[in-house]
Amino acid sequence: PSAYLTIDPAFRVAPVSRRTFGTFVEHLGRCVYTGVYEPDHPTADEDGFRRDVLELTRELGVTTARYPGGNFVSGYRWEDGVGPRERRPRRIDPAWHSTETNAFGLDEFVTWARKAGVEPMMAVNLGTRGVAEAMDLLEYCNLPSGTHLSDLRVANGAKEPHDIRMWCLGNEMDGPWQIGHKNAREYGRLAAATGRAMRMIDPDLELVACGSSGSSMPTFGAWEAAVLEETYDVVDFISCHAYYEEHDGDLASFLASATDMDRFVDAVTATADSVGARLKSAKRIDISFDEWNVWYLSRFQNAEPPRDWPVAPPLLEDHYHLADAVTVGGLLISLLRHSDRVTSACLAQLVNVIAPIMTEPGGRAWRQTTFHPFALTSRYAAGHVLRVPFDSPSHETARFGEVTALDAVATHDEETGDTALFAVNRSTDRPLTLTADLRALGPVRLAEATVLAGPDPYARNTAGVPGTVVPRANPDARLGDGKLEITLPPVSWNAVRLI
Ligand code: AHR
Repeated sequence: PSAYLTIDPAFRVAPVSRRTFGTFVEHLGRCVYTGVYEPDHPTADEDGFRRDVLELTRELGVTTARYPGGNFVSGYRWEDGVGPRERRPRRIDPAWHSTETNAFGLDEFVTWARKAGVEPMMAVNLGTRGVAEAMDLLEYCNLPSGTHLSDLRVANGAKEPHDIRMWCLGNEMDGPWQIGHKNAREYGRLAAATGRAMRMIDPDLELVACGSSGSSMPTFGAWEAAVLEETYDVVDFISCHAYYEEHDGDLASFLASATDMDRFVDAVTATADSVGARLKSAKRIDISFDEWNVWYLSRFQNAEPPRDWPVAPPLLEDHYHLADAVTVGGLLISLLRHSDRVTSACLAQLVNVIAPIMTEPGGRAWRQTTFHPFALTSRYAAGHVLRVPFDSPSHETARFGEVTALDAVATHDEETGDTALFAVNRSTDRPLTLTADLRALGPVRLAEATVLAGPDPYARNTAGVPGTVVPRANPDARLGDGKLEITLPPVSWNAVRLI
């Protein structure tokens, strides 16, 4: 089968937002403890951060990190995690049935984020707490000095303000599992009041209201509309969260998960714009897709939560295969395609917990299959996102009806002249011969054609053998007469660089 597409720098969607390549560090399982922080580890630096994880985080190309949760934040007291360690309380974390030692907290996170070269993105607790605690947290983080809480930060060793720009007003407040779960009006009013008070302290903050925790929630759509009616003039973003998994061996549907993400983003955009129209507002609300990934959630939901309040137990440690990585690559294509509205996104999460980076306590750190499409997309996407109109064979899927085998997006950097094409072949069994019309780019050279593929869609990497699923040069790529011809193997993610 053959597919055709056109890359034309005139087909601009929006500038590539670097925040599309965000991630998420939650106090959950081994994400923080034995993930980013392990003072006894052989690679630990003077702050107790694992250097091997810091290096992989940089290589992954993540730009922002959301913290401290997730479900965890809705029962969290940020004050527990600052100041001298020996005075920090041990507490139960009811969200994940764990014990939180508070050895790692806000100041450590910001120090870690600066070392990793990522922008911290903070969530406030609107589950058990409200306006006053959010104001306190903001004063502690962003005021230079001269007030009780800013001076406390200085006394705790952080002379300069943390200067955190992006703030999530709570987490998944639509979910009945969330501590302090609210209905849309209750949450919307609280988020608006909290956001207004925070802006009185720091007017230039970028604020995110909680959207639905998934498009299958019974309140999806109605929730976004009601929350935005309450918060429209206060917030900049509405959040989306989506996790995908292969159900009952239905690989074809799973590989086409980006179809659901496309519909999700389009529905939230339409809902936000409809509220804006009713409010006669010229303001546009963007989307922060601040949790997305492959997550075998049904396995987690069927497991018993730990009963003995363990410290940093292994939780949600999904072990990803090639098809998971191709799906992650496809979801990134969807996010980029929507760059006119999705200007922030977080792969959930960074280390050990449904993560591209895995660690052994005291031992090795290694790259999961999903690491690779994320790292390469972050590395090569530059300039403007381009829509790439294409013709492709299609096939039926149980979940999404007819889908194209090909999905693709491109970026073009006017300053350097570099172009990147990202493409997936979602066919489970047939290679795809792709012809790309490049005439509008002028003379270009093929710098690289990289493919993530293999004979077994369920092949995985391990700590001992981390190189089973890794990007390789695609030998079947040729450039000539203003055309690129390339063969995309079945179940493959591909990146092509033209310079
Ligand atoms: O990322 C794991 C969990 O998924 C988060 O804590 C929560 O926000 C979502 O349900």
